[in-house]
Amino acid sequence: MLFFDFGVMKEWKIGLGVCGGIAAYKAVEVLRLLQKAGCFVQVAMTKEATKFVKPLTFRALTNQYVIVDDYSADNPDPIAHVNFSQNIDLLLIVPATANILAKFANGIADDFLTSTYLASTAPVMVAPAMNTAMWNHPATKRNVQRLREDGVIFIEPVEGELACKTVGTGKLEDVENIVRQVLSFLESRQSVEAVEQDLEGEHLLITVGGTREEIDPVRYISNHSSGKMGFAIARAARRRGAEVTLIVGNVIASPPEGMKVINVVSAEQMYQAVMDELKKATVYIGAAAVADYSPVNRSSSKIKKNSDRLTIELKKTPDILKAVSLKRHDGLVVVGFAAETDNVEEYAKEKLKEKNLDLIVANDISSSESGFGSDKNRGFILGRDGSRVEVPLMSKEEMAEKILDEIVRLRNK
Ligand code: CTP
Repeated sequence: MLFFDFGVMKEWKIGLGVCGGIAAYKAVEVLRLLQKAGCFVQVAMTKEATKFVKPLTFRALTNQYVIVDDYSADNPDPIAHVNFSQNIDLLLIVPATANILAKFANGIADDFLTSTYLASTAPVMVAPAMNTAMWNHPATKRNVQRLREDGVIFIEPVEGELACKTVGTGKLEDVENIVRQVLSFLESRQSVEAVEQDLEGEHLLITVGGTREEIDPVRYISNHSSGKMGFAIARAARRRGAEVTLIVGNVIASPPEGMKVINVVSAEQMYQAVMDELKKATVYIGAAAVADYSPVNRSSSKIKKNSDRLTIELKKTPDILKAVSLKRHDGLVVVGFAAETDNVEEYAKEKLKEKNLDLIVANDISSSESGFGSDKNRGFILGRDGSRVEVPLMSKEEMAEKILDEIVRLRNK
């Protein structure tokens, strides 16, 4: 049984646009699940959609007039596309055909649904469903790309057997997953609405995860960093109004939505990516566990085990954090981490000074309940102004908020 646990949600108003595809009947199930989750849903259909499902089905389920043609004599509202579009928290299109994507992407407003899309300031989510060849067509790809740039959120089609009996990508995502993605998006908006936007105007550049220093095509030197702490800071910063760019090494978690992500492998690549992005940043957070050494020579072929001992010569990698500090432009806040197993505070103080940082987050990785891979962390946040905030064992999400609180405090000083 489907169970959505999204706590107390406000009654979201959703405009559900139904287009003419064989998956149109699934919009009925989406509607029912959204209603069960407490949403108020009003439906609009394209003319072609009514060939697959009758407006009466949606009218009976919503108790609302279903708009297909706003010029129709029985339409109770003469400026329905404006009234409808101004009174919704989300415009959701299920299924989104290749045709509707093309019209949205080009601003064509030749019926009620397309006029609503243009007249609405609400966020838009689309769940495409179409034949694989249509989904992969360069024209559709262009339209999808343009819509993504316009901020439209895609509920990606999945792979499976399509109505035309071919197998490929283009199948509508499962209705339960569609509703789950919609509710999770609305929930994240609700939390954004409730959170003070005290990082608005800031652009955080955050390094995340561990780097991998390749020995040969098979082996590498790395560490246990999971990326959880960096991602928690990124998510919290986004909620508090900041723009975020992530430079991501090897991680076990997925990067959050809604931010620029640059993937790198080695310390050298991370250094380059940071230097390329630094100018746009107002805050730099070095949350990555950068390998301190990398092999002097990377063997291009697999090293064979034909001797009892193997010596690999290592050279120091660039200290990215130190380089950022040296190149810092006016107003840039520089935050480092110190992952320590002993003398945590003492080592952190040394790094704060030596790397010329504004803040250092000293985390104790000596126990399994905190640090690398764990969902929790503990430590201190030390400031160049002598401030010291103790962080007892807490979730990485809570610790992220404390780090951001310190950045805001420094900024307001
Ligand atoms: N760091 C970096 N580039 C490196 C090494 C570390 O930017 N080549 C950054 C990390 O992202 C972190 C801080 O420096 O923010 C401290 O990293 P840490 O591994 O604790 O310390 P190191 O400077 O590497 O020193 P040591 O390993 O001797 O403790």
